[in-house]
This record gives sequence, C-alpha cells and structure tokens, in this order.
Amino acid sequence: MTDVPSLGFHDGHSIPQLGFGIWQVSPDMAAEAVRNALQTGYRLIDGAYLYMNEAGLGEGLRASGVSREDVFITTKVWNNEQGRDKARASVERSLETIGIDQLDLVLIHWPVPSQDLYVETWRAFIKMRDEGLMRSIGVSNFNADHLERIISETGESPVLNQIELNPELQQPKMRSVNADHGIVTQAWTPLGNGRSFEAEPVRAVASRTGKSPAQVIVRWHLQLGNAVILRSINPARQAENMDVFDFALTDDEMTSIASLDVGKRTGPDPSVFKEM
Ligand SMILES: NC(=O)c1ccc[n+]([C@@H]2O[C@H](COP(=O)([O-])OP(=O)(O)OC[C@H]3O[C@@H](n4cnc5c(N)ncnc54)[C@H](OP(=O)(O)O)[C@@H]3O)[C@@H](O)[C@H]2O)c1
Repeated sequence: MTDVPSLGFHDGHSIPQLGFGIWQVSPDMAAEAVRNALQTGYRLIDGAYLYMNEAGLGEGLRASGVSREDVFITTKVWNNEQGRDKARASVERSLETIGIDQLDLVLIHWPVPSQDLYVETWRAFIKMRDEGLMRSIGVSNFNADHLERIISETGESPVLNQIELNPELQQPKMRSVNADHGIVTQAWTPLGNGRSFEAEPVRAVASRTGKSPAQVIVRWHLQLGNAVILRSINPARQAENMDVFDFALTDDEMTSIASLDVGKRTGPDPSVFKEM
C-alpha cells in the first residue's frame, strides 16, 4: 500500500499530504466511499458539518477495519455557526455524529467578513483545542487580511488554510502568505472540475509518463508542496488518484503547468461569500 508523505504543522502535529474529501457525497453513499477510501490507503478524511454526511464518515471509519488513531479526520464549522457558543455546539455535534472523542483538525469553513465573527470564532477554537476537543485548529478560504487579523488579535496562527487551488487558480500569493506564517496550504477542488485535463502541458506529461491527466495534476500539487484532498465515489478513481508516487514532473513540466494559471475560480470569492 502507498505510503503517503506527511506535512508538519507548527503545533507539532502533522497531516497526510494527500487525502479524501466527502463534499457532495450523499449521506447514503458516504459510509461506503469512506470505507473504500480507507481500505485503498487514504488516511485523511476531509468532512464538514455542511456536507450532511458525518454519520456516514464515522460508519465508514468503523467498517474499514483501520484504527481510529491511524486516520486523520477534519471537519469544519459552517458560516451560520460562527461565534463562541455556536462554534462549540457545532464541534460537539460533529464529534457525536462521527462517533469519535477528538477531531484531528477543525477549520472555520469561510471567514464571512460581513458578519465579523471569525475572530470570536477563532478564540473559541483556541479554547476548544486547549480543552482537547480537537488536536489542531485551522481555517479555510481565508485571505491574507483575514489571516493577519486573527493572528494579530489572538497571537495564534492556524496550522492550515484550505483554499481553492488548481491549475487555472494557482494562488501564488496565498501560498506565499501561508508559508510566511508557517501555515500548510491545502487545495480544495484540486482537479479544477477537469478544466485543464485537455491542456497541452498536462497532456504532454500524461503521454510521457503513461499517467492520466488527473494523476499529473495531483502530482503537480504534491511537488508544489500543497496538501491535497481528492474526491471520487468511484473505487477505481480513488485508487488512481493515490497512484502518484512512482513518477515526477520535471522542472520544465512544472513551469509549463504554471502557465495555465488564469486566476479563475470554480467557487465563490472568500472576500464576499456569506451563504448561511
Ligand atoms: N473548504 C471548502 O470551502 C471546500 C470547497 C470545496 C471542496 N472542499 C473539499 O475538497 C474536496 C475536494 O474537492 P472536490 O470534491 O471538488 O474534488 P476534486 O477531486 O477536485 O473533484 C471531484 C470531481 O472530479 C471527479 N474525479 C475525481 N477523480 C477523477 C479522475 N481521476 N478522473 C476524472 N475525474 C475525476 C469526481 O467524479 P466521480 O466522483 O464521478 O469520480 C468529482 O466529480 C471536497 O470533497 C471537500 O472535502 C472544500
């Protein structure tokens, strides 16, 4: 089975560089998808309260035969549950629904600057982490100004920032801001909805290596130093997306994929997104 490398956090813990995400996996499919992913070798499951499938996450974990301590579990607190008391209730509910005693990582899902609760939520995260509800705390979809505000107001930096990142949205500025703060960058929608599968730089590596466009893109993420979370309910694709440790992109190939960045999101803009 593939040994996935880990990335170290500034709090002393670490995260598998490649993991399995369960956004848009229906509640009745989640247990099977998680069980199969774990049996295929994934050791990181990325969930969220919003995904409404945390019960399936826990069920899949228990059905997999893989020990709880060998699996890294992330969840997120949704926008309408920010604030001191609601954030705590959300984390406690996720623990209960998944059926575990401690989460490995909890993220603020989006900053939602318009409601101005993310600093209060971050303070609640620090307290919950100190009490042991989760081992590590991080954020998702935070821009530089959101990061700088929580760090300057609390003195605590997130261990990880999960952001949209794919060949058409390479986020060089956010990767560098994260790195400056010692924050791991984790890519969501890493395949970019397949928008770059037919692009020449990706096809060229695929034909040189015999790998699929998806595998080339996953490998590109790993070589950039990103943590990356993939999703597929198809067992063959789950295996394909992990089979990326027996080849490498050359420096020239990394440069030619860098040329695909057009700064185009598939998802919302974090500076204004406020869906509840
Ligand atoms: N923090 C946030 O705001 C946020 C937002 C979005 C996502 N996320 C997280 O990031 C995870 C990954 O993002 P994503 O779900 O958009 O994932 P993704 O892996 O970029 O894309 C998933 C889509 O690609 C297809 N796919 C997967 N592997 C493939 C392959 N080898 N070849 C061709 N198509 C393939 C899947 O179809 P099939 O299932 O049919 O194979 C699915 O439609 C999510 O599951 C979630 O955990 C976080």
